[in-house]
Amino acid sequence: MDSIKEGKASIKAGNGVFFNPKMKKLRDMSVLFVKALNKKQPASFLDCTAATGVRAIRYAKEAGIRNITTIDMNKDAYKSMRKNLSANNVKAKALNMSIQEYANTTAEKFDIIDLDPFGTPSPHVFDVMKISKDGTVLMITATDTAVLCGAHEAACMKTYGSKPMHNELCKESGIRILLNFISRNAAVFNFGSEPLLSISDMHYMRVFVRLSAGAKEALASIKENGFACFCGSCRNFSLSKGIAPKLSPKCANCSKAMEPYGPMWLGKLQSKEMIGKMLKLVNDPYEGEKELRMMQGELDMPFFYSIPRMTKSLHMSSVSPEAVRMRLEKMGIAATRTQFDKDALKTTGTVSEVIKAIRPNRV
Ligand SMILES: C[S@@+](CC[C@H](N)C(=O)[O-])C[C@H]1O[C@@H](n2cnc3c(N)ncnc32)[C@H](O)[C@@H]1O
Ligand SMILES: [Zn+2]
Repeated sequence: MDSIKEGKASIKAGNGVFFNPKMKKLRDMSVLFVKALNKKQPASFLDCTAATGVRAIRYAKEAGIRNITTIDMNKDAYKSMRKNLSANNVKAKALNMSIQEYANTTAEKFDIIDLDPFGTPSPHVFDVMKISKDGTVLMITATDTAVLCGAHEAACMKTYGSKPMHNELCKESGIRILLNFISRNAAVFNFGSEPLLSISDMHYMRVFVRLSAGAKEALASIKENGFACFCGSCRNFSLSKGIAPKLSPKCANCSKAMEPYGPMWLGKLQSKEMIGKMLKLVNDPYEGEKELRMMQGELDMPFFYSIPRMTKSLHMSSVSPEAVRMRLEKMGIAATRTQFDKDALKTTGTVSEVIKAIRPNRV
């Protein structure tokens, strides 16, 4: 069995133990994130789905985390993580049990929790709240992106209790559905949720959420959830926060019927301060730096306009998104690119202002 080197970790995966080298970029980002959290030592860290233990080893050796617990319900993964932790001289409490069993039997509460299961994290989120406390930071991955992005609408309604989008906004709405789910589970335990970083890349979504204890905080987060209506004809969207908001099913721009989606998180997705701290910590060339810079510059508000989709619906030939962005700026309207679609713009402008910027010569 060959050794795999990643960051300062040197590990062996072993038969049937999960390790995906393609997730390095995301693990690097998580290491940067944990470093940027700059938790007072000894911060306690739990990897609920440790597999080889690679994350724990990297957080210990690269971010100085000392008080580590790793669990995995798979026997071979448990054996592999124990060997790897010891070969890397990382002290940790390694356990062979499920998240559910652990969360229901321990009295410990952690500062940082990593949850990276196969597919959906949904069956584990409730249990993770039981081992959280004020200030806990959760790092949660979902790889059931086809479900969150609306390829399987029924599965999303069943798993997350939300109606997903299946259009150009689906990646962002997928992240927002995941955050709605997390914030609702957090609120049951009287935690408010604050997303510090949210990424959609390749086949995964990953969110980094800080919990704050208090009934007021929990309610404030619940009020950040709501519904989005989308017009399939002119690509307009409207947002309504609240559990039972008034929806406007008629498009204010073209009067066609809009389709409601959600519930989903309509609050902020990022902490610019956190992204700034992470960027300051980048020393060596880092594959994810481009994404971090994109997120740092991006307007943090729900949804965007895909310029190719809009020119298509206007029966026009293509226009460069950058040209549209510059015209909006000249009109005094803020607009930025977005991580969710390289040909789209997030803007404080309305759909009719974006249309005006797409075809400036039409009155
Ligand atoms: C995708 S892998 C984790 C990969 C790892 N985080 C990494 O970066 O290499 C998911 C792991 O979660 C474990 N797992 C799945 N469900 C679990 C549960 N309910 N409790 C504990 N471990 C679980 C699996 O055995 C598997 O080793
Ligand atoms: Zn419309």
